[in-house]
Amino acid sequence: MDRFTDKVAVVTGAAQGIGAATALRLAVEGATVAVLDRNTPDDTLALIERAGGTARGYVCDVTDRSSVQAVFDKAASELGDPQILVNNAGITRDDLFFRLTEDDWNAVLAVNLTGAYHCAQVAQKFMVAQRYGKIVSLSSRSALGNRGQANYAAAKAGIQGLTATLAIELGRYNINVNAVAPGYIATAMTAATATRVGMSAEDHQKSVAEHTPLGRVGQPEEVAAVIAFLASDEASYVSGQTLYVNGGAR
Ligand SMILES: NC(=O)c1ccc[n+]([C@@H]2O[C@H](COP(=O)([O-])OP(=O)(O)OC[C@H]3O[C@@H](n4cnc5c(N)ncnc54)[C@H](O)[C@@H]3O)[C@@H](O)[C@H]2O)c1
Repeated sequence: MDRFTDKVAVVTGAAQGIGAATALRLAVEGATVAVLDRNTPDDTLALIERAGGTARGYVCDVTDRSSVQAVFDKAASELGDPQILVNNAGITRDDLFFRLTEDDWNAVLAVNLTGAYHCAQVAQKFMVAQRYGKIVSLSSRSALGNRGQANYAAAKAGIQGLTATLAIELGRYNINVNAVAPGYIATAMTAATATRVGMSAEDHQKSVAEHTPLGRVGQPEEVAAVIAFLASDEASYVSGQTLYVNGGAR
């Protein structure tokens, strides 16, 4: 498939995990990809190069508005104005609510929700000018509530509200705005959760798989495929939606 020929895509938090798989998928389908992360995204760039795609890396903390603006301007001048934004950068700082610190509350809201606000607000300017755009943001199944994740659940529910509202405001400019809400995907993020609860990543995945209708956990590529669909013209009349990608779990 060549769904993203002549498109420029910005993927945040793309040095690893779901972001890396998404950057690769978009690049393989023809997009020129700006690979953003707070860490140097060399592994992702190497993957894309090996697959014959085009990408450039940008180090950027999405919580820092001026850095987001500077990096989007730089990427636009080097790669072209972006048509696609994937708000994927995210962190967890899990704890039970009674001892959840204000630092952990603020850090999770800042990256997962305020970061998406910064990137979407900077990106929409380029998209409105082109009368074309696709914004896909990472929510989570945890938005429905998850023990030990009051901060993360609030941020990911916030992504759903942000998505619904941006779809209403930006629709007239031919900009589609959607979210994906993954369940348990095997990445460094879920491996860290396993460590926190005193389990190996493998055992943790096994126990989650037992409660998942499809009988296994998800892989980053399976989320990337859904993000790519929502970022493509195949989803041209889909906007304001949150699509759960969670193996059938309720
Ligand atoms: N893995 C899962 O099970 C799962 C489930 C639901 C939702 N999600 C969401 O999907 C997204 C990707 O998750 P993942 O599992 O691939 O995580 P991950 O920890 O493997 O990768 C997250 C990436 O975001 C980057 N990042 C973190 N803070 C940043 C910042 N301030 N600025 C720029 N980059 C930053 C990290 O450096 C890292 O490369 C996140 O938004 C996460 O909340 C993940």
